[in-house]
Amino acid sequence: MEKDAIINTGLRGITVASTRISDVRGKAGKLIYRGYPIRDLAEKSGFEEIVHLLLYESLPSAARLEKLKNELKTARSLPDAVIRALETCPADARPMDILQAGVALMAPHDPDLQDESREATLRMGIRLIARMATLVAAWERIRNGKQPLEPDPGLDHAANFLYMLSGKRPDEETAGCFDTALVLHAEHSFNASTFSARQVASTKAHIYSAVTAALGSLSGPLHGGANVRVMRMLEQIGTPEKVEAYVENILDQGRKIMGLGHAVYKTDDPRALILAPMARRMAEKAGETKWFEMARLLEQKGKQAFKARKGTDIFVNVDFYSAVLYNAMAIPVDLFTPLFAISRIAGWTAHVLEERFAEAAPKPMLYRPESEYIGHYCGPDECSFVPLEKR
Ligand code: COA
Repeated sequence: MEKDAIINTGLRGITVASTRISDVRGKAGKLIYRGYPIRDLAEKSGFEEIVHLLLYESLPSAARLEKLKNELKTARSLPDAVIRALETCPADARPMDILQAGVALMAPHDPDLQDESREATLRMGIRLIARMATLVAAWERIRNGKQPLEPDPGLDHAANFLYMLSGKRPDEETAGCFDTALVLHAEHSFNASTFSARQVASTKAHIYSAVTAALGSLSGPLHGGANVRVMRMLEQIGTPEKVEAYVENILDQGRKIMGLGHAVYKTDDPRALILAPMARRMAEKAGETKWFEMARLLEQKGKQAFKARKGTDIFVNVDFYSAVLYNAMAIPVDLFTPLFAISRIAGWTAHVLEERFAEAAPKPMLYRPESEYIGHYCGPDECSFVPLEKR
């Protein structure tokens, strides 16, 4: 790298591509999927409509929606070989590792893998959207010594996932809440996992490679893994009277409170504003509001303590109340990040399509950033080679 080049650690503030898929307006607290504000989409549409919007660039007609739902339903079942492979994994494996490995394993079973066309990539994306949910549900059953369930073609995507997970068909309110959670997690511009997917797609690797990379990125606690950490944190705190001391202690140690802060939003995360009342509703329905109330208190105390120390505001992000919501729905904590993934696959697919096949200028190109070489410990420039026998 040239000596006077500017370093932007973590690519903050650098625009690396143009996109028509979504926009995160950090100061205004807005999230837009292909022109539509997230609040409208969350209130008025379902996950399959969002898949259509992201993949086909428009909201579907009733007939188009029916067609897409049928395509997804037809694609739900996993190849037998994938199920057999899951059965060989240790029951305490991390579900995100299983999902990542399972997606890689699905690749050679996809009849379109060798086809490099846009249409084939779209078909593979639809299979991934349908099957990642089946895979997560199948793993939950396998690790508990149960047989994976066949998908129910009478149920839409959200309800079918909950059914395959628990064996019980969810009531309308529960399925509706989960469907909205899927809508809210489906897309979020150039976050870490989406950028990972696009970066791999920019090499012209196939969509399964791009998605396995994205899954690795999503698993991290600073990204999708935060929802698991939020719930573990609440469990660790244990009771409301310990919240304030916990917050003070974490901030005194210079550590982070999970579920707070965002790289782009500098005001309320619009998704958290929708998730919080849903989490309350589901907690009340389950007859256990303790975690929701503790989360509310933690939000309040965390914000106050952060402001007192840094002089600036901090806000809860999507992972904060989604954790409380999923917990109220009796979903095992270590599945929270896979739940994020089974929705975000819609956005990843849209981004892979855009990265690989966008027609409009500026066209995407292979990502290849620079780094600043700051020298090895032997000196500023080149080290003199020491033969093996003299080291
Ligand atoms: N708890 C305590 N302090 C926090 C914090 C949190 N959750 N999030 C940010 N901060 C502090 C940082 O320590 C930093 O302090 P400093 O300026 O004294 O060094 C300051 O706020 C700015 O933080 P920074 O890490 O630069 O913000 P960012 O915008 O780059 O980071 C996250 C965004 C998401 C990585 C960060 O907020 C975080 O780690 N949050 C917790 C994990 C999480 O919930 N992730 C899910 C994101 S959707």
